Amino acid sequence: MGQDSNPVGVLLIVKNYTGDRLNFGLAAERARAEGISVAMVVVAEDCALSSPDKTAGRRGLCGTVLVHKIAGALAAESKALKEIAEIASSAVKSMGTIGVSLSACSLPGRGPSFHLDAHEMELGLGIHGEAGVKRMEVLSADETVRAMLDHMTDPKSDSRLHVGAGDNVALMVNNLGGTSYLELNIIARAAVDYLGELDLWLANYCLHSCCDESKGVTIGRAYTGTFMSSLDMAGVSLTVMHLDQRRTSCLDADTSAPAWPRAALSCISDRPSELSVEDTKGCTSTGDGRSTSRSGDGTSSSWSRVIESVCKALLEKECELNALDTSAGDGDCGSTHARGCRAILKWTATGGIPDCGDGLLLGLAAVLEEHMGGTSGALYSLFLTAAAPPVCEYTTPSRWVCAIQAGIEAIKRYGGADVGDRTLLDPLCAAYDELKSLNSEDDWLTYLGNAAKAAEVAAERTRHMVARAGRASYVGRTRLVDPDPGAVAVATLLRALHDTLLLAPRTP
Ligand SMILES: *[C@@H]1O[C@H](CO)[C@@H](O)[C@H](O)[C@H]1NC(C)=O
Repeated sequence: MGQDSNPVGVLLIVKNYTGDRLNFGLAAERARAEGISVAMVVVAEDCALSSPDKTAGRRGLCGTVLVHKIAGALAAESKALKEIAEIASSAVKSMGTIGVSLSACSLPGRGPSFHLDAHEMELGLGIHGEAGVKRMEVLSADETVRAMLDHMTDPKSDSRLHVGAGDNVALMVNNLGGTSYLELNIIARAAVDYLGELDLWLANYCLHSCCDESKGVTIGRAYTGTFMSSLDMAGVSLTVMHLDQRRTSCLDADTSAPAWPRAALSCISDRPSELSVEDTKGCTSTGDGRSTSRSGDGTSSSWSRVIESVCKALLEKECELNALDTSAGDGDCGSTHARGCRAILKWTATGGIPDCGDGLLLGLAAVLEEHMGGTSGALYSLFLTAAAPPVCEYTTPSRWVCAIQAGIEAIKRYGGADVGDRTLLDPLCAAYDELKSLNSEDDWLTYLGNAAKAAEVAAERTRHMVARAGRASYVGRTRLVDPDPGAVAVATLLRALHDTLLLAPRTP
């Protein structure tokens, strides 16, 4: 390559290994002899070695990838070689990397380069299979990340990276070869938690994580993936680099490099807030003029009283429902309902109950979707979500009946079940059949009583039904001698609803 073909020159980005320095040094000298201008940046951001008397210096690890990205973006901007080299070198001084692994890498045809027992992991290893600086017992992801970052920032270490509250950093979570994305992202989450706060979804996020223990560092950019691996090593490395405006814009700059990921954080900022339940609070206008907030009339407090007593009734049935589920399913129907009820009770305790019907149902749907889990969680969530629109504007008894109808239709549509299939639809539809003939709004409590009774009868009758949908359909029919637990739960719910409203009747 002559100077004509590249008047600007060549930047060598070299990891700090003796052999690399020597060989790239040789290449640089040869190029210079040919009249090519060459600059060399040595990456040495390894934070593993903690004492100065080691003969080997700091190695170049995954941070090299960040240096490549930054230098590449500057080159694309046609910056001068000298300036690119300076900026790249300053980036090197602003970063640190530490790795941890559950295994060594194995060269093809040879065994692992060193041995780790199943209960051991090693901190601070290199990417060529060099053993690390510290062997330790396997820890949880959170504890591991803590140990890594504490080592990286240890004031007693000569190779430490200074990171403190108020700093803005890029975080790179790198797969050393044999780590799954699942594990990688667990580590990433732990690192984000420990380092501090995501400025973007900070407010909600911190309510849920223990920010008090974190270092108060802002993570301006986060990347997870396989950037610099060591064959099959089952480990990860964390790289932290201080950000300034230029480094950030270089990281963000467009690239055609296929392996460069989108920063995880720009995705996170697009995520709906974790507390989507909160969004339903207040029920502001839905955009088509149906402003539904009617706060101040005590609606939400009486709703929360009703909800609480329904939840308590279901919680009391936890063991019974589990027992019913043992023959048909995996014996957790009661526990699943209990989990949902506890989440709802927690929600009502925070005073988050909206004043309007659809807000209430959507709020409940969000809580159950998030915390109840399983098919039941999805069914209830679906029911409540579909039931919400009819009670958006008015919450008269007949609107509630419409809501139940809409919920039932959604369950039929997406669940593929119908009446008689031995599911929660049996009591639900039986109840609806009573309610749909409601002709006087004043008499709604009587209808609700009839509906609760009908639901109980229908739930009991599932005992004799062949399961054609749901989990019980996978079970041989001879084993089904009990009523369907999901159906019993719905009947319990309706009975509790009626009994509570009977004690303190008011328009629901
Ligand atoms: C690179 O490693 C050598 C030892 O091989 C060490 O003396 C030197 O300080 C290291 N370079 C940097 C920039 O840390």
